[in-house]
Amino acid sequence: MARPANAFEKIVSLCKRRGFIFQSSEIYGGVGATWDYGPLGVELKKNIIEAWWQAVVYDRDDMEGLDAAILMNRLVWRYSGHEKTFVDPLVDCKQCKKRFRADHLSTKFEMTPSLYGSENMAHMDPVKSDDRQKVQPARCPECGGELTEPRLFNGMFTTYVGPVQDESGLAYLRPETAQGIFVNFLNVLQSSRRKLPFGIAQVGKAFRNEITPGNFTFRTREFEQMEIEYFCKPPRYLGPGEKSDEQLLEEWIEERYHWYIKLGISPQHLRKRPQAPEELAHYSKATTDIEYLFPGSLGWAEIEGVADRQDYDLSAHSRDVPQEDLERLHLERNLHSTEKLEYFDESYVDPQTGKKGAKYIPYVIEPSAGATRIALAFLCEAYDEEQVSEPDQAALKPLRDSIEASLKNLAKRIDEESKRPRPEGPSADQLKAIESELKSGLEKLPRGLLEIDAACSLPGAERLDLVKKVKALVGRLGDEHTRTVLRLHPKLAPIKAAVLPLKKNEPAIVEKAREIKQRLKTKMRAVYDDTAGIGKLYRRQDEIGTPFCITVDFQTLQDDTVTLRDRDTMKQIRVKTEELEATILRHMEEWPNKL
Ligand code: GAP
Repeated sequence: MARPANAFEKIVSLCKRRGFIFQSSEIYGGVGATWDYGPLGVELKKNIIEAWWQAVVYDRDDMEGLDAAILMNRLVWRYSGHEKTFVDPLVDCKQCKKRFRADHLSTKFEMTPSLYGSENMAHMDPVKSDDRQKVQPARCPECGGELTEPRLFNGMFTTYVGPVQDESGLAYLRPETAQGIFVNFLNVLQSSRRKLPFGIAQVGKAFRNEITPGNFTFRTREFEQMEIEYFCKPPRYLGPGEKSDEQLLEEWIEERYHWYIKLGISPQHLRKRPQAPEELAHYSKATTDIEYLFPGSLGWAEIEGVADRQDYDLSAHSRDVPQEDLERLHLERNLHSTEKLEYFDESYVDPQTGKKGAKYIPYVIEPSAGATRIALAFLCEAYDEEQVSEPDQAALKPLRDSIEASLKNLAKRIDEESKRPRPEGPSADQLKAIESELKSGLEKLPRGLLEIDAACSLPGAERLDLVKKVKALVGRLGDEHTRTVLRLHPKLAPIKAAVLPLKKNEPAIVEKAREIKQRLKTKMRAVYDDTAGIGKLYRRQDEIGTPFCITVDFQTLQDDTVTLRDRDTMKQIRVKTEELEATILRHMEEWPNKL
C-alpha cells in the first residue's frame, strides 16, 4: 500500500489515541521534546530492545552486556571531549525571537566536524576565536529578521552530585551511553577473560539539550540508545587471517542493515549512507549511517550510525599514552585516569625480533542506534490503511452528492482565486490539489473511500465547509468499510494474541475464552476483550498491530476448536485449542508467511 500523504500526522494521532506515546507532563502543558511511552509503547520499545539484544548478544559468541550508570565522574566528559566539543552555535532572531542552530542556517558556516558527525553537534572550541569568525549565519528563515551573533551552547544537561550545588559536585546526564562502555573496558575484559575481537552492548537513556528537537519522537531531549563498542586489533598487530577494523566495520554495517530488514523494514525505505569526510566526527575514521525513509517532510534520516572510532576513546581515558599517539588523535594528556586501557595480546609475534606478546590500545567499531527513534521508524513502516468492503449505492448517495457540491464550489473558488487571490484563504494550488484528489476518489467509488478521506486532509481543506462535510460523511462510511492496520513484525507487536468471545452474554463461551487467554499468557502477551462486537474488536486489534485474534464461538463448545485470524490477510482458520499456542509461535517465526 502507498503511504497516505498525511501518514506521519496519522501515526502521531494513533500513538496518543491508542496508548503508544503521550506527551510528557501533558496536564501541565508538557516539557519540550520529552515523551512518555504508554501501555502499548512500552511493550513495543521493550520488544525492539529484546530483538536487538537477542541479535547482538545472544546470537553471537563474541559479545558481553553492560548496564553502566547514567551519572559518571565529570572527568569522563572532560577527557571524552564532550565538555569542550559537545556544543551548538545558537542564534536568535532579533525580530521574531525564534532560536536556531547557526550551522543549520548557513552553508557558509564552516566549523570543524561535530562530535557525533553530521547529525548532531557542531564541534567548536569555545575559546578559539578563529572558529567564531567562520560563523556567518543567514537571516531568520521565518521572518527574514536580523540574527544575533552566535553563542555557544553545551548540549549536556547538568546536575549536582551531593548536597552542595557548586562546581565540586557538577555532573552531567550522559549524552551517549558509549562512554560507560569505554571506562569499563578493563573491568569487562578481565572479568570475562575475553580475547580480541569482542564487543560490549548496552541499552540505556541518553540526554541531549537539543536546540531544534522535533518531528515527534525523532529528535528528543531524553531518548534511549542501543550501543555496541566492538574492540579489535589495530592494523599493525593483525595476525594472518585476522580481520582488520575496516573489514569489521563493513561486517557490522551489513549485520545491522539486515537486522532492520528481517524485522520488516522494506529495502525501499532503508539505505546505507557513508558519511563524507567533512561530516565525520573527529574520532571517526569512517562512518556509515543507516537511514530510514520517514513519511512526510522528515524523509531520509539517520536511525543508526556505524563508526570506526579507532583507538580514540580508550586512549582518551588512558594514562601514559605516548606523545605521538596523543598528537595523532588530537588528544590532551590524561592526568587523572589510574589506568592504561590496553590489551595484552599473547598471540602476537613481532615480525622483526620474533618476540612474543604485545600490549596495545584496541581499535573500536561502534554500531550506535536509538531505540526510541527506531520505534518511530517501525511504527511508520507498519502503518497502513485499506478499504475492506464496499458500501451499497444507497449508503453512498449522500457522499456522492456532497462531493459533487464540493467540486462545483471548488471550481468556482479556483476561478476566483486565479483572478483575485485572497491571502487568508487556501491558495489556488491547494484548491486544485483537493479538487483533483476528490475527483479521482469519486471516480473510484464504491472503492476510493481512503482517497476521498486523504483529499479532505490536504492543506487548506480545513477551511472549506463543504469539504469538511465530505470528510464527516466519508469518515462515517470509513468506520465500517476501511481499517487501519499496523503491520508490525509479530515479535515487535505489543500484543501477540487477543482472545475474543463471539457472544459476551454466553457464559460458556466467555469462560472458555478466559481459560484460553490464561493459558496463552504464560507464553506471550495475550489479552481478553469483550467490550464490543466482533467486527469492532478486530479493527481495534488491527490498529495496534496484534498479529493474531482468536475467536471463541458456539462451535468451540462442541469440538474445542477456535478461529485464528491473521491480521494482515484477515484470513481465518480453525485450530484445535490444544494446538493454538504452537500454531501462533510457529507463525511468529515464519512471518511474513501468512496463515
Ligand atoms: N555514541 C555515538 C552516538 O551517540 P549519534 O549519531 O549521536 O552517535 C546514535 O547517536 C543514535 O542515537 C542515532 O542514530 C539516533 O538513532 C539516536 N539519537 C541521537 N540523538 C537523538 C535524539 N536527540 N533523539 C532521539 N534519538 C537520538
